Amino acid sequence: MTDIPFVGEITRFLNDEAPEAVRQAIARAHRKDILPPSYPYRREMTKNEAAPLMEALQIELVKMLWGLRESGQRLVVVFEGRDAAGKGGTIERMRENLNPRSAYIVALPKPSEREAGQWYFQRYVDWLPGAGEFALFDRSWYNRGVVEHVFGFCTADERERFFRQLPDFERMLVDEGFILVKLWLEVSRAEQLRRFLDREKDPLKQWKLSWIDVEGLKKWDAYSAAIHETLHRTDTPEARWTVIRSDDKHRARIAAIQTVLNAVDYAGKTTDAIGAIDRRIVDGIGLLD
Ligand code: ADP
Ligand code: AMP
Ligand code: MLT
Repeated sequence: MTDIPFVGEITRFLNDEAPEAVRQAIARAHRKDILPPSYPYRREMTKNEAAPLMEALQIELVKMLWGLRESGQRLVVVFEGRDAAGKGGTIERMRENLNPRSAYIVALPKPSEREAGQWYFQRYVDWLPGAGEFALFDRSWYNRGVVEHVFGFCTADERERFFRQLPDFERMLVDEGFILVKLWLEVSRAEQLRRFLDREKDPLKQWKLSWIDVEGLKKWDAYSAAIHETLHRTDTPEARWTVIRSDDKHRARIAAIQTVLNAVDYAGKTTDAIGAIDRRIVDGIGLLD
């Protein structure tokens, strides 16, 4: 097949281990443009439908970044969600027409031995934006609430300390003047599997597969519990979550950009170009209940 690790493991899981309901959902979702029954739309937004909206939004993002530079504000957007929720693609779209020097992606690997011995939030603090900068966090300190817990990479005590410190940590950021936006991209199980299978087949996407993705397939329910707990314990008045249904990637990307634009005040903001957020796919953490 290929030398890329983990390719083939997704298909093997689907054939040998996936619960029947998941297999059926996958079969239904096999046609890329049919969304699962839980999604509020039957059909995906097409690239052509999304393009004019996306262009208008990207123009707003350019103005927003200019505004940040003028005012010296600092913007932090945290992108969270299960594997294959669409964090990477949303981040790319949000950043692609911005100056990479001021709008940068933070995608940290697992902690090094030295980092593992530091205060948990410490290495993230290193990457916070300076005046006029926009940091896009592809995963974040929320790893401790979800993936580290599901895979046993942290102890129960470490996780409790994380939950205890987190509200103060985020309040401190907001008090310091950071604009903090927390996005949770929600993907259904069938769509996640469909995307994994797609990654397996596509040599340009295989790099996105990891051991975590493969092992995580068996841990859907443990993830659900950890996600529910994490979002409920970290949705504070100063730092609310925005949850976006992301089975339709175009609608999700549009909603994510709208949410960020709404969070920032900048000169020349055109509310018409931003448009109304689609409340059928965007809400607070109640969307997950
Ligand atoms: P991604 O989906 O972001 O491409 P993975 O699915 O491979 O990456 O991993 C998910 C997250 O789990 C990453 O943020 C990674 O750094 C983290 N992670 C992986 N192994 C460990 C570990 N041993 N300890 C802590 N975090 C880890
Ligand atoms: P439960 O709500 O008890 O079914 O737990 C759901 C998941 O969250 C399980 O994986 C638990 O191990 C985990 N969990 C629940 N409460 C805590 C907690 N206080 N600290 C750490 N993990 C927890
Ligand atoms: C993505 O689709 O980019 C994901 O959210 C990243 C991942 O696979 O973990």
